[in-house]
Amino acid sequence: MTRNRQILLVSRPTGEVSHDDFQLVAAAIPELADGQVLVRHHYLSLDPYMRGRMNAGESYAEPQALGEVMIGGTVGEIVASRSDRYRVGDQVVGMGGWQEYEVVDDERAGALRRVDGAAIPLSAYLGAVGMPGVTAWYGLLQLIVPQSGETIVVSAASGAVGSVVGQLARLRGCRVVGIAGGPEKCRAVVEEFGFDACIDHRQHGDTRTLADAIAAACPDGVDGHFENVGGRILDAVMRRCNPFARIAICGLIAGYDGAAIPLREAQRILLRRLKLQGFIVSEHMEFWPPALRELGGLVASGRLRYRESIAQGIENAPAAFIGLLHGQNFGKQLVRLI
Ligand SMILES: NC(=O)c1ccc[n+]([C@@H]2O[C@H](COP(=O)([O-])OP(=O)(O)OC[C@H]3O[C@@H](n4cnc5c(N)ncnc54)[C@H](OP(=O)(O)O)[C@@H]3O)[C@@H](O)[C@H]2O)c1
Repeated sequence: MTRNRQILLVSRPTGEVSHDDFQLVAAAIPELADGQVLVRHHYLSLDPYMRGRMNAGESYAEPQALGEVMIGGTVGEIVASRSDRYRVGDQVVGMGGWQEYEVVDDERAGALRRVDGAAIPLSAYLGAVGMPGVTAWYGLLQLIVPQSGETIVVSAASGAVGSVVGQLARLRGCRVVGIAGGPEKCRAVVEEFGFDACIDHRQHGDTRTLADAIAAACPDGVDGHFENVGGRILDAVMRRCNPFARIAICGLIAGYDGAAIPLREAQRILLRRLKLQGFIVSEHMEFWPPALRELGGLVASGRLRYRESIAQGIENAPAAFIGLLHGQNFGKQLVRLI
């Protein structure tokens, strides 16, 4: 009989995540009841927000329960159905978690979204045409509101969110400058994703030299900034912001292990009349349909490009996740489960 291999969270990390925080188990797949379907996951999405869910402290979402399957986005195919709404063979996106199969009640509102793997590769529904893409779309278009001719900066620019931010801003006529870790990522940001320039933050160990590099890449200053990292990257960009620049605080991954990331350039908020706005994409569901329409069209027509880092097998999910938190991924981090 097929077993469902799962990864449970068994302890809460203090500081860096370790392999010991996870446990691989194999569970029996229960018989389906009326109205239920069995989804076989093809891909699991690994995302930085999962690090926050591993903590017990205050957050915008409930912490991940200990002893339970780790939370996570999934895409796969229905392999058994006792539901009138879904048929065997339907391809669906869901929040199936770190496991190979999930039994889903078809009445759980929004649990599954049907997708078309013929038009767009299934994996893209977890990246450019999924939550990360919508995050980029929302933060850029609703908060930064880029105007043609403006200069937009984005950190973690080679990543799932950052690479989409830059390409959408370019399509709207902006000059786009990325910040990424290492020469290989920077080269791809310019050559594959079409950014105007990319700064390697590893080459600039302090805020001042990073700010100098941003000034050189942004001769007209910075009008909009999409922040994925925080710390000295945010400080350096704030030094180069034009009056009335808009900063979307999407992620602060530099502090996800619990390290403080002080804002050292706060005086610029007043001097330059800056607008900083944090957001959580799942609180803006009304924007998902228009965002997914645009992103899906762009990916299907080849005008929006993306990269993926793919680990193979559920047993390798913890290592891939730890790598993501150390910048070892290059583009959307996925685990292939088939
Ligand atoms: N607000 C929301 O609703 C929302 C939704 C989705 C994602 N997010 C946030 O968006 C950001 C990007 O997410 P993503 O899925 O696209 O991830 P990603 O960019 O594909 O991967 C994370 C990247 O962050 C950089 N990084 C990792 N650890 C770091 C550290 N300790 N210090 C500095 N940089 C580090 C690395 O890039 P380099 O090697 O280039 O430095 C790494 O490749 C994250 O902060 C995430 O939490 C927010």
